[in-house]
Amino acid sequence: MHDNIESHLKEKRVFKPAKNFAQKARIKNLAQYQRMYRESIKRPDKFWSREAKELSWQKPWRKVLEWKAPFAKWFAGGKLNLSENCLDRHLTTHRRNKAAILWEGEPGEKRTLTYQQLHREVCRFANVLKRNKIGKGDRVIIYLPTIPEAAIAMLACARIGAVHSVVFGGFSADSIRDRIHDSGAIALITADGSYRRGGIVPLKKNVDDALRVGTSVKRVIVFQRAHNQIHMEEGRDVWWHRELEYVDDDCPPTALDSEHPLYILYTSGSTGKPKGILHTTGGYLVGIYSTTKYVFDIRDEDIFWCTADIGWVTGHSYVVYGPLANGATTFMYEGAPNWPEPDRFWRIIEQNRVNILYTAPTAIRAFIRWGDQWVKKHDLSSLRLLGTVGEPINPEAWMWYHKNIGGGRCPVVDTWWQTETGAILITPLPGAIPTKPGSATLPFFGVDPAVVDPNGKEVGANVGGKLIIRRPWPSMLRTIYGDKQRYQKQYWSEYKGNYLTGDGARRDQDGYFWIVGRIDDVLNVAGHRLGTSEIESALVSHAKVAEAAVVGRPDELKGQGVVAFVTVKTGVDASNDLKAELREHVGTHIGAIAKPDEVRFAEALPKTRSGKIMRRLLKEIASGAKVTGDTTTLEDFSVLAKLSESDE
Ligand code: WTA
Repeated sequence: MHDNIESHLKEKRVFKPAKNFAQKARIKNLAQYQRMYRESIKRPDKFWSREAKELSWQKPWRKVLEWKAPFAKWFAGGKLNLSENCLDRHLTTHRRNKAAILWEGEPGEKRTLTYQQLHREVCRFANVLKRNKIGKGDRVIIYLPTIPEAAIAMLACARIGAVHSVVFGGFSADSIRDRIHDSGAIALITADGSYRRGGIVPLKKNVDDALRVGTSVKRVIVFQRAHNQIHMEEGRDVWWHRELEYVDDDCPPTALDSEHPLYILYTSGSTGKPKGILHTTGGYLVGIYSTTKYVFDIRDEDIFWCTADIGWVTGHSYVVYGPLANGATTFMYEGAPNWPEPDRFWRIIEQNRVNILYTAPTAIRAFIRWGDQWVKKHDLSSLRLLGTVGEPINPEAWMWYHKNIGGGRCPVVDTWWQTETGAILITPLPGAIPTKPGSATLPFFGVDPAVVDPNGKEVGANVGGKLIIRRPWPSMLRTIYGDKQRYQKQYWSEYKGNYLTGDGARRDQDGYFWIVGRIDDVLNVAGHRLGTSEIESALVSHAKVAEAAVVGRPDELKGQGVVAFVTVKTGVDASNDLKAELREHVGTHIGAIAKPDEVRFAEALPKTRSGKIMRRLLKEIASGAKVTGDTTTLEDFSVLAKLSESDE
């Protein structure tokens, strides 16, 4: 859409890794990083073999990478099991009785599962899956809150080779149904309800609504979490705790091909329905294992807290698989950061002596807004490293995080990656790479990113362009589930043989990457990716709507806000009530996170002669700017004037 990507940020501050941190870190200085990076690019087979050999393989791989662009096989011929690597591998070591998961529910309950206990629960639940005729290759939807059972369900699927697809608990019945339909899932794992800001989210009811029309789902396993009243469908629904009565705890990990599908995770694209991003076993494991190890420099004695919900890729890679593959202690929290008060996170850190905190810029901006007094009430001295992910972080938020949460002593790792990349790709290494507020800094090992112009030519320092990755990496997506062509077209066709990220970026004179944000029609609202086209089709599905165009506008808290321009059908009254109704409608169809912040009615939408909606103009109007630039391709000039006037 934009060929010229401008980046106006000029940030001069540089923070060198503290000596005492660097001395103890795995990667201790820039020279060591550069040496290893060079090796990882020149001799990737050697580099990745060394990483992979730290893990357990039931059969060694034949070849590190088989690349028939854009299709990759990593550790081809190897056999392994991911749950074995996250669990069994640690049982013969001192980690056996160490906490694998520390969990806190929103109402305040606490649970601890040691590696031994988690292993037992995963084996038992894997046997429950088998008992319910779920086997290798079957797709299973997981619609659970961030509770230990979410990790148990994921690991149990991985243990028997079933393919999980976690659906975020904030998504609606329609979203669940779409994902069941696309994945052909035969089973669904959910809970009666989950807690959110003191209320109960009726998960099971949403599932019932999703399954009302016939679907491929034969079995629903229900965990009792919130004890709310639910309906159990005879012959279809079973209770998690009742099922456990019938199984033992013996379940050896199935030896799976390195390329065996591990999970499908749906994410927004610029066109049409959400894409099922497919990740496989061996390469994904190596990717999340080595990034968790180097980026967070994780230690046995650490408590690692990634605040992401289990329904997003960050929850998959850095709440569950990455920390557990490293034998670390992962902290999980079920609820909202401001429940019962805005200091919940700081209370958790103080009480549990959390050492590493990994959260999102949108959360940081909310904390800033709630005021420093909530932070000051708590002792955060246990923290030694901070991370961010999900969207560009503005330098002021970075500085606040560094100073107020990190006490000025903790390195901040601003990690860039995507659902598609599986693991972190551009990031500081905390003991080695000096940081600049707002920059994700340098590529991780084996990653070869570049900023290019529309012809695919690498641009010079400080010139904006599109961010591409020039070679495959172990944790990359393998395809879009059921749609190889879309995979090829979406990611690998614009710059043949290179992976298109959909992000704009620039590289500064030191080679540091500054990510500007999405360049396609994807919004990043509070760190969540939303396709404008998905919201548009939700709006158009309303009986009174004729046409809709959705754009983003800058939002201080959420990064981007959602603005919908709507034309109604003839005879319909474009009232404020209808605005509210449309917002609810989007909430029901997609989920609350997609609700437009503002709905604006228009008599017609501005279009080019070829009928394309002029989003650039709508964006300018939405953000309150004066409309500039060439408008001669507009179908109807008067439309523009009316839109600008159509404020509430
Ligand atoms: C954005 C989340 C700037 C980016 C792991 C990317 C970032 C999209 C950063 C992926 C960062 C993520 N700096 N932008 N550190 N991290 N993004 O798939 O636009 O939910 O393409 O994966 O988030 O979002 P997704």
